[in-house]
Amino acid sequence: MSGKTSQSHDHTSDIATLTAELNYSVDTEPDAPPEGERWSTWDGATHGPKPRPEWVITELGAVESDLGILKTGKEADVHLVRRWVPGRDDAGVLMAAKRYRSSQHRLFHRDAGYLEGRRVRKSREMRAMRTRTDYGKALISQMWAGAEFGTLATLWAEGLPVPYPVQLGESEMLMEFIGDPDGTAAPRLVQARPPADLLGDLFEELRSAMIRLAELGWAHGDLSPYNVLLDGERLVIIDWPQVVDVIGNPHGFDYLERDARNMADWFTRRGLPVDAAELFGDLAAAAAGASRW
Ligand SMILES: Nc1ncnc2c1ncn2[C@@H]1O[C@H](COP(=O)(O)OP(=O)(O)OP(=O)(O)O)[C@@H](O)[C@H]1O
Ligand SMILES: [Mg+2]
Repeated sequence: MSGKTSQSHDHTSDIATLTAELNYSVDTEPDAPPEGERWSTWDGATHGPKPRPEWVITELGAVESDLGILKTGKEADVHLVRRWVPGRDDAGVLMAAKRYRSSQHRLFHRDAGYLEGRRVRKSREMRAMRTRTDYGKALISQMWAGAEFGTLATLWAEGLPVPYPVQLGESEMLMEFIGDPDGTAAPRLVQARPPADLLGDLFEELRSAMIRLAELGWAHGDLSPYNVLLDGERLVIIDWPQVVDVIGNPHGFDYLERDARNMADWFTRRGLPVDAAELFGDLAAAAAGASRW
């Protein structure tokens, strides 16, 4: 009871011992993932639609390695991630991890239009997003990730050529990696020079995907050769957060028209003349038909 001094001395040495033990146990933790890696983030994330492709790894003991940035975009970074099961003699599976930025400097160029058209439930959240507080910026990136994940889930279930959305976590969306098993991403159309005799098939693929989308009442809203990947001989359409409700959005048909023109121009430049007005006409008719439902 007497010595405050000795008590505090004991206390300090207890902490020292504890810290040493803690460090020791952390360093030798038998269950820690290998250096520089993380445990699978599957548990606790929102999962993609079923039936789930059989390549998705759901084991809780799986590990994820970040293999680096595939591309730094204006609003998000896309990383290449490998999920694999230690002790299993396959290389696991590659996924693309899209991480939306809640940047201090940049505003999302698509925010204004998006926030205009949709109600966010709580006005406090709406205000935080409008005034771009840190909290508001975090909400905006979560909103974009959630919007893209939800759209991919619907479109994938409809059979459209989009990457399978594996899972949505708090700060990133994991999706099917489109590319080679060695980690080389499929080129964007803007850099691709497909053989002339493939162009007709590619256009039919694109056209039927766009028509199906319009029948669902949607336009991509940012469709261009930058957001379409050439995966071998097929097209895969990416980058969906701003998907547009053609009938509900006051500029819905303008977006549809711009999407049609961007793609028609690419095919025309590559040697397959495509009439943008005709394509837009077909899409508009499909979207107008969708409004009856
Ligand atoms: N699933 C995927 N598989 C392979 N590569 C992908 C995938 N998703 C995205 N990428 C690559 O990452 C780039 C950026 O992705 P995305 O277009 O979705 O994001 P973004 O922020 O809009 O980028 P940007 O501003 O360049 O349009 C794509 O152009 C593509 O090269
Ligand atoms: Mg893009």
